[in-house]
Amino acid sequence: MGYKIAIVGATGNVGHEMLNILAERQFPVDEIVALASRRSLGSEVSFGDTTLTTKDLDTFDFAGWDMALFAVGSEATKIYAPKAAAAGCLVIDNSSLYRYDPKIPLIVPEVNPEAIADYKNKMIIANPNCSTAQMVVALKPLHDRARIKRVVVSTYQSVSGGGKEAIDELWDQTKSIYNPTDNKPPKKFTKQIAFNVIPHIDVFMEDGSTKEEWKMVVETKKIVDPNIKVTATCVRVPVFVGHSEAVNIEFEDFLDEDEARDILREAPGVMVIDKREDGGYVSPIECVGDFATFISRIRQDSTVENGLNLWCVSDNLRKGAALNAVQIAELYGREILKKG
Ligand SMILES: NC(=O)c1ccc[n+]([C@@H]2O[C@H](COP(=O)([O-])OP(=O)(O)OC[C@H]3O[C@@H](n4cnc5c(N)ncnc54)[C@H](OP(=O)(O)O)[C@@H]3O)[C@@H](O)[C@H]2O)c1
Repeated sequence: MGYKIAIVGATGNVGHEMLNILAERQFPVDEIVALASRRSLGSEVSFGDTTLTTKDLDTFDFAGWDMALFAVGSEATKIYAPKAAAAGCLVIDNSSLYRYDPKIPLIVPEVNPEAIADYKNKMIIANPNCSTAQMVVALKPLHDRARIKRVVVSTYQSVSGGGKEAIDELWDQTKSIYNPTDNKPPKKFTKQIAFNVIPHIDVFMEDGSTKEEWKMVVETKKIVDPNIKVTATCVRVPVFVGHSEAVNIEFEDFLDEDEARDILREAPGVMVIDKREDGGYVSPIECVGDFATFISRIRQDSTVENGLNLWCVSDNLRKGAALNAVQIAELYGREILKKG
C-alpha cells in the first residue's frame, strides 16, 4: 500500500523536480495529482513514464490525501496550505511562510530528522531556503565533532532560485547582448543579470542585510544549533542551476583539514571532491540533476584559532527544494504513516 500525494505548483521549476525525484526514488505512490493555477488547467506534466493532467488548486479537495508537496510561493501557500492541513493532509512547504514559526518543524532529514515529531502541531512541515539546506548538510557533521562557533558564508546563487521568470530573464538578456536592437532591461532582477553579479537577493532588512542573508542566519540556528553565529552575503550570479557557497567556519575545538575531509566523506548527503589540482573541485554546472551536496577546497584557515574554509555546491532545485521535500515525505512515511 502506497501514498496519495499532491504536487502543488506542478508546472513550476520545483514542482517539475519533485515529480522527477519521486519517480527516480520510486516513492511508493498509490495516486498522484498535479495542481497549479487555473492558467495551467489541463496542461500536461511528466511523472516517470506517465503523463499527468494538471488540475486547478483552487477547487481541489485535499480530504483523503496523505501529503501535499507545496511549491507555489508564500501568497498562494497562505491560502491553500491551511485548507490541506485542515483536511488531514500533511503539507510540506517550500515557501518561506512557515519556516520561522516555532511550532512548525523546519527539517533537513540528514541533520534534524527528530523534528518530524512536531508535524502534528499544525500538519505543516517547512522546507528550508535553498542556500541554507546545502550548507547545513555540510556543517552538521563538523559541528558534531568540533562545535561550530561562527560561520562566514558568501553565496553564488543561480537564477533558478528566482523561479521560471528569472531563468527566462537570464536567457533572453544573454541573447540580447549579441543583438543590441533587442534590448531586454531588468524586470525580475534589479540590475542586468547577464554577464554580471548582483549582491542583492530578496528584500532589504533594517540593518542593511537582505532577507536571503537573514534566512541563512535564522534557519541555520533553527536546524543545527541556536548557538552558532552566522553572517552571510548572498549574491545572484548568471548561472542557470546550482548554488555555490564559500564557507569559513570557526570551531571551539581544533579540527584538522584531513579529519574534516574524512568526516565529510562519511556524512549522509555529502560527496567530497577535493583534489588540489586543476579541476579537482566541483562547479555548479556539474551538480545539476544530482542529489548530493558537493564539498571541495577543504583547507585550514590559519588567520583564526580553529578555522576551516570549504566550497559547497548543490543543485538548488533538488537539495535546496524538491529533493529535501521528497526526503521529508519519505521520513513522514517511514516514521509516522508507515504504509509503503
Ligand atoms: N527555485 C528554488 O531554488 C527554490 C528553492 C527553495 C524554495 N523555493 C520556493 O518554491 C516555490 C516555487 O518556486 P519555483 O522556483 O518552482 O517557482 P516557479 O517556477 O515560478 O513556479 C511557481 C508554481 O506555482 C504555481 N502558482 C503560483 N501562484 C499560484 C496560485 N495562486 N495558485 C496555484 N498555483 C500557483 C505556478 O502555477 P502556474 O504555472 O499555473 O502559474 C507554478 O506551478 C517558491 O515558494 C520558492 O520560493 C524555490
